[in-house]
Amino acid sequence: MSEAHERCFTEARINGLTLRNRLIKSATFEGKSPGGVPSPELLRLHERIGEGGVGMTTLAYCAAEADGRIHENQLYMHEGIRPQLEQLIDRVHRTGARVAGQLGHCGNFSKNREFQGRRPLGPTRAINPLGLTYGLPFAGALTVSQIRERVQVFAQAAAFMVDVGFDAIEIHFGHGYGISQFISPRTNRRTDQYGGPLVNRVRFGLEVLEAVRRAVGDRFPLLGKISMTDGVRGGTSVDDAVEIAGMLESGGLDVIVCSGGTSSMNPMLLFHGDSMMPGLIEQEKNPLMKLGIRLAGKRMFREYPYRETYFLDSARRIRERVRCGVCYIGGVCTGESIERVMSEGFDFIQLGRSLLFDPDFPRRVQEERGHRNGCTHCNRCATLIDAPGGILCPLKPENFELPAA
Ligand SMILES: Cc1cc2nc3c(=O)[nH]c(=O)nc-3n(C[C@H](O)[C@H](O)[C@H](O)COP(=O)(O)O)c2cc1C
Repeated sequence: MSEAHERCFTEARINGLTLRNRLIKSATFEGKSPGGVPSPELLRLHERIGEGGVGMTTLAYCAAEADGRIHENQLYMHEGIRPQLEQLIDRVHRTGARVAGQLGHCGNFSKNREFQGRRPLGPTRAINPLGLTYGLPFAGALTVSQIRERVQVFAQAAAFMVDVGFDAIEIHFGHGYGISQFISPRTNRRTDQYGGPLVNRVRFGLEVLEAVRRAVGDRFPLLGKISMTDGVRGGTSVDDAVEIAGMLESGGLDVIVCSGGTSSMNPMLLFHGDSMMPGLIEQEKNPLMKLGIRLAGKRMFREYPYRETYFLDSARRIRERVRCGVCYIGGVCTGESIERVMSEGFDFIQLGRSLLFDPDFPRRVQEERGHRNGCTHCNRCATLIDAPGGILCPLKPENFELPAA
């Protein structure tokens, strides 16, 4: 057995929390929470992932508040869904895995039919293309006192998550959502202490981290997912990300998860592989939005041919910069890739699509070093997040079915 293989499959710790191995299911919004309530299918999916042997699963998109949701079928952290969350966590625990929740806020990027405010708020006034046909065409700029309120909203949500029983929280600093709208110079054109140089643009994220840390205590594991580059002109670069990683480490983050891309402008950078455009056009019911996707199409859905461990070169720079934990994510579908990432000193690996194709992937690699996962990176799973019933792997639609009664 190679040292890297052995390292992956021995216990590992994040700030006092012990995981049975170093493989973590990444946040993949499953579209299985109609009306913002976790469904039996969502519970089963995470339980099944736990049965497959991961060290920890991540419940995607736990919005910090109701208006922090991209749409009304996402979860937000409130007492109304406590029983379902407690049940989900309990069922995963019985499999021997741990549960993290991904805490985020959509900022100015929303098509939430139940939006309560006047308009979504982000760093700067902007058009909200996602909300064009949902009565939310414009986004406003947060005032400084509204920024302070939003920081508190994150802290309250985090306190709730600890109380409900999550083992860890992953704060979403990337992918073009609320915090990354501040970090990116492309979307942040403020001239006050929250805009301009990088140190100012990261300020909101650091304030969120500080408030969340205070709310959860020193001995609670906090991960943070960043975009190493937005992948858009005028956006952040990997050089910026290296600095951001240093700031987050100083701010008390335990593990940095190194992703990339922007859901609203360059989603294919996140995934690599086949374009999501045809699938999204097929799924979209609104003819105007269909047309919008077609028009924005080529510019938005750029080509990134799939290759294993596609973020490794950039992530290595983060690994070299910080001493806190670093989690690799992006294109890990073989035992060989797992060993390569482990041998480069990363502490954890997050897996998305390979677990949707085969929830038993961790167990299989543990038993057979050379195992290869069959995900084809068709990315159809990612086009189904708003489909009735939510996501599935088109090659293995039966994977997460509820057991027959
Ligand atoms: C169906 C689907 C939904 C996703 N939803 C989220 C999400 O809610 N939050 C997030 O940070 N990333 C999300 N992602 C991105 C994944 O977490 C991950 O960054 C990406 O799939 C690359 O990892 P992989 O190559 O292991 O799949 C999603 C990916 C997929 C396939």
